[in-house]
Amino acid sequence: MIKSTVNDALDDIKNEIIRISKQEGQQEQEGKIGSYQKEETTGSSTGKSKVVRYIDLFCGLGAFHAAFNRINESYADKDVDKKYECVLACDIDEGVRNIYQENYGIKPEGDINKICIEEVPDFDILCAGFPCQSFSIAGKKQGLLDDSRGSMFFKILDIVDEKCPPTIFLENVKNLLTIDNGKTFAIMKSELEKRDYHVSYKVIDSRFYNSPQSRQRLYIICNKYNSYKFQMVVNPIVPVASIIEYTTNDYLDYEEKYTLEKCEGKRTSSILYKLINKESGKGGRQGERVYDIHSFGPTICASSGGPGAKTGLYYLEEGKIRTLSIVETLRMFGFEDSFKYESLKNKNKMLYYLGNSIVVNVIEQLIRDL
Ligand SMILES: C[S@@+](CC[C@H](N)C(=O)[O-])C[C@H]1O[C@@H](n2cnc3c(N)ncnc32)[C@H](O)[C@@H]1O
Repeated sequence: MIKSTVNDALDDIKNEIIRISKQEGQQEQEGKIGSYQKEETTGSSTGKSKVVRYIDLFCGLGAFHAAFNRINESYADKDVDKKYECVLACDIDEGVRNIYQENYGIKPEGDINKICIEEVPDFDILCAGFPCQSFSIAGKKQGLLDDSRGSMFFKILDIVDEKCPPTIFLENVKNLLTIDNGKTFAIMKSELEKRDYHVSYKVIDSRFYNSPQSRQRLYIICNKYNSYKFQMVVNPIVPVASIIEYTTNDYLDYEEKYTLEKCEGKRTSSILYKLINKESGKGGRQGERVYDIHSFGPTICASSGGPGAKTGLYYLEEGKIRTLSIVETLRMFGFEDSFKYESLKNKNKMLYYLGNSIVVNVIEQLIRDL
C-alpha cells in the first residue's frame, strides 16, 4: 500500500516534470518565430534541422544559390543540422530562368513588378544583386530616382515592408557609393535604416577570395537584430593559370590588324601587352589588353567589346593570346565545371550572363560569417 502511494507520488512528480519541460520547449519555440532561424523538422537522420529560407531576386545564373548549395554540402559533410532553402527566385530574362531551372531545379518567376508580394512565401534572407546599369560608370550616371531600372531598389523595399526579413543581402557595382556625390547611396541607406535595419557595407575585390578574377563589388548586408561585421580577407592571389584549359588552342589571329606592344616599366596591374591597331596607331583600350596568366585577371564584363570582348585576352605562350572559354569563365566566377546551360541555344550568350554575375566564393564567405 505504502509502496504504491510512493510510486503514485513519483509518477505525479514525473508527469509534472514532463508537463513543465514541454511547456518550456513550446515557449522557446514560440520565442523563435520571426527570429533569424526558424526551426523545422526535416528528414535529417539526426532529428531536427534548422531550415533558413531565402529568396533570390534578380537571380541571373544564381551565384547566391550556388553559394548556399556549397554551404549546404559542407554542412552535410560535417553533419551540421542546418540547411539553406530557396523559396523564390526571379529574373526577367527567360534564358537565365531556364538555366536556373536546369541547375537548381526551381523555375524562377519573371518580372519582379508582376510578382504578387502577398503570395511570396515567408523567408529569412532576401538576396538581390539588383540591376546596376543606372549606377555603373559605363551607364549614364542617372541615379536612383531618375531611372526606372534604379527603382528596382524600391521594389525590393516593397517586399521588405510586407515580409520584414531578418536579413537583407544586396550586391551592386562599387560606383553606387559615389554616384550623385553619394546621394543615391545615402537615400538607400536611410530607407533601410528607417525600417530598423543595421546597414553594413563594403567594397570587396574577389581576387582576395580565392578567385583569379579581380571584381570589385559593393556588398550591403542589413540585419534587423545586430550589425554585420565584414571580416578582413586577404588570401593569396590564385592565378588565372590555375583555371586555364591548356588543351584549348583557339588563339586570336591578331597579326594582320594589330601589333603586340609590351607594357614596360613597373606594372601595377596584370596587363602584360597591349594590342595596337596598325592603321590608327591606337590601342590598349579595355578589349585590347592582354593579361598575364600568372597573376589575377580583369573584371569580366557583359558589355565589354573589342577582340577581348567579355572575358579579356590572356597571354598563353610566345605570341599566343586568346580569350577565355565558357568553362574557364565559369571558373573565374567560382561556378563548377558541371554548371549546365543545355537550354541555351546560342552558347556564347553564357559569357554575357556570366559578365553580369557575382563571384560565388565571395558570397559563400559572407554568408558563412552571417
Ligand atoms: C546584375 S544581374 C544579377 C546577377 C545575379 N544576382 C547573379 O548572381 O548572377 C541583374 C539581373 O536582373 C535581371 N532583371 C532586370 N530587370 C528585372 C526585372 N524587372 N525583374 C526581374 N529581373 C530583372 C536581369 O535579367 C539580370 O539577370
